[in-house]
Parts: sequence; C-alpha cells; structure tokens
Amino acid sequence: MLPVILVTGKNGQLGWELEQIVHAYAQQFRFHFTTRAELDLTQPDQVQSALDTIQPDYILNCAAYTAVDKAEQEQEAALKTNAHSVGEMAAWCERNGKQLISISTDYVFDGKGTAPYTVQHPTDPLNYYGYSKWLGEQLIKENHPKGIVVRTSWVYSTHGNNFVRTMLRLMKERNELNVVADQIGSPTYAADLAQALIQLVQGLQAGKKAQPVYHYSNSGVISWFDFATAIRDMAGLTCQVNPIPSSAYPTPAKRPGYSVMDCSDLVSDFGIQLKPWQKSLGTCIQQLQQTHV
Ligand SMILES: NC(=O)c1ccc[n+]([C@@H]2O[C@H](COP(=O)([O-])OP(=O)(O)OC[C@H]3O[C@@H](n4cnc5c(N)ncnc54)[C@H](OP(=O)(O)O)[C@@H]3O)[C@@H](O)[C@H]2O)c1
Repeated sequence: MLPVILVTGKNGQLGWELEQIVHAYAQQFRFHFTTRAELDLTQPDQVQSALDTIQPDYILNCAAYTAVDKAEQEQEAALKTNAHSVGEMAAWCERNGKQLISISTDYVFDGKGTAPYTVQHPTDPLNYYGYSKWLGEQLIKENHPKGIVVRTSWVYSTHGNNFVRTMLRLMKERNELNVVADQIGSPTYAADLAQALIQLVQGLQAGKKAQPVYHYSNSGVISWFDFATAIRDMAGLTCQVNPIPSSAYPTPAKRPGYSVMDCSDLVSDFGIQLKPWQKSLGTCIQQLQQTHV
C-alpha cells in the first residue's frame, strides 16, 4: 500500500500548486486533498475523527486563516484554524505514529532583524495572524515532538489572491501606483514550495531525519517596491511605481519591516535547491500571460 499524503487547503495557493504536480508521484504516494467541507479547521474538536476516516501517513497542512488584517477582528476563527486545529492534527499524528508537516510564516518574527532569521532566532509576532500561527507551532512542539514546521514568506502563485496578481491588475487599470519600500523580505513562488514539500516527504520516507523547524523562500532579498517594479517590467507594463514608507499605507495589522529567513537547513538536510526570486517570478508571469488570467 502506498503511503497516503493528506494535503489540507486544496483551493489555496499552495494546495492548488501541489495538486498540479502530484500526478508525477503517483507511483510513490497516494494523495488526498481536503477542502473546508471535508475538514473544517474552525471545528478543532472534529479534526481527529476526520483524520481517523482519512488515515493519512503524512499531513501537509497548507490550510490556514490567512486574512492578516481581518484576523485582528476575527481572532477566534484565526486561533481555531491556525492553532487549535493544528494542535489536534499534531496529537492525532503522535497517537498514530504519523507525520505532520505544517506550514507557518515569517510573521512569527518581530521584523526588527538585520540579518536572515535562522530557525533558532527568537519569535515575537507583531500581529494576531502571526500570534495564531506561532501558537500553532507551539502546539505542534508540545503534542508531536517529531512534527515539522516549514515557515515561508510572501507567497504568490498563478492561482488565488496574491501580490503579483493584484499588481498586474492594478498596473493595467492605473497609470501610477504607490508601493511600500521599507518592508524587506523574500518572495516564494508556491509552485517551488510545493515541489520542496514533496522532496521533504520523499526524504522522510527514505529515512532522513528532520529538524523541528525549516525555512523556505526563493533566494534574494527585496522590498515590496522592488517586487512591484520587477512585476511591471517582466509583464511589459508601463505603470509608474512610486516608493512609499509603511507609515503612508496604514493597515489594521502591523507588518514586519524585515522578514528575510535563512533557508540553508532545507538545502543541507534535504538537498532542496532555492530558485532565485527573479527566475520564479518570470515563470509565474509567463504562465499567467499564457492562460490570460
Ligand atoms: N500567502 C502568504 O503570503 C503566506 C506567507 C507566509 C506563510 N503563509 C502560509 O502558507 C500556507 C499556505 O498559504 P496560502 O497562501 O496557500 O493560503 P491561501 O491561498 O489563503 O489558502 C488558504 C487555504 O486554507 C483554507 N482554509 C481557510 N480556513 C479554513 C478552515 N477553517 N478549514 C479548512 N480550510 C480552511 C482555504 O479554504 P477556502 O478556499 O475554502 O477559503 C484555502 O484553501 C499557510 O499556512 C499560510 O499561513 C502564507
């Protein structure tokens, strides 16, 4: 019997990208993708019985409450989805000898760093979304010592709501756009992260030992302004992009100023290569242009 990989968040950016590539691994694994209808993470008390039915060997938890600003108000939904249900998945995996890999965020850091955050760097989330994801990480640590957290940042895809698709739309509608230039990070093409997660599971399946936390993003360090200008240039658009400070674009949830992560552990432990952000952005834009999305 092939090991079963459960992927939560089938319709999210990362879940969708995983679904695009799993046919290539059909000889090695059986995949089960869930939507909210089959596994609703706002109902933590129902998580373990849903997992009893699915019987996964690995869980790639890609579902999350990701509305960063709304989470400041909808704290209970964020907490249940990003923390309590993750704790239930962790407890189920521990009880059944299975493996949870749950995706987390650069927003667990306070944003005051000046060099890429290592996995040991102290966490101190700035906003409620970050807090809920941080609590999810703690519950994994408590309930499932061999559980794995993979933190990522600035995720985009050809699918779903993200900065790249929003910029492309606005740049076609407007002559001029203001974009914050004092928040620094590393973008992540969800298709690359999807591939990396499969490689991680393949490594585990082959008996490789994992650390409790990994970081994954594309390589390179930029501001949102740099990202926006690259999106414009690669898409052949002409909209003027103006750099602004975060203070000129207030949001309900605070954003970290610096959120670059050191991803070297995934490279050294699992041989996962990090693609430069420019290359992956080019691939995404090319795909979007081909499909006229
Ligand atoms: N997006 C980013 O920039 C970013 C940055 C850092 C880390 N991350 C992390 O990366 C992971 C993947 O993010 P993403 O960008 O793929 O997120 P996304 O596109 O917002 O997708 C989130 C998925 O979670 C599902 N979901 C939300 N609430 C749920 C619930 N109560 N029960 C079941 N499913 C629920 C959504 O279902 P519906 O389609 O039904 O709403 C959707 O499929 C998440 O852990 C996120 O926290 C994302």
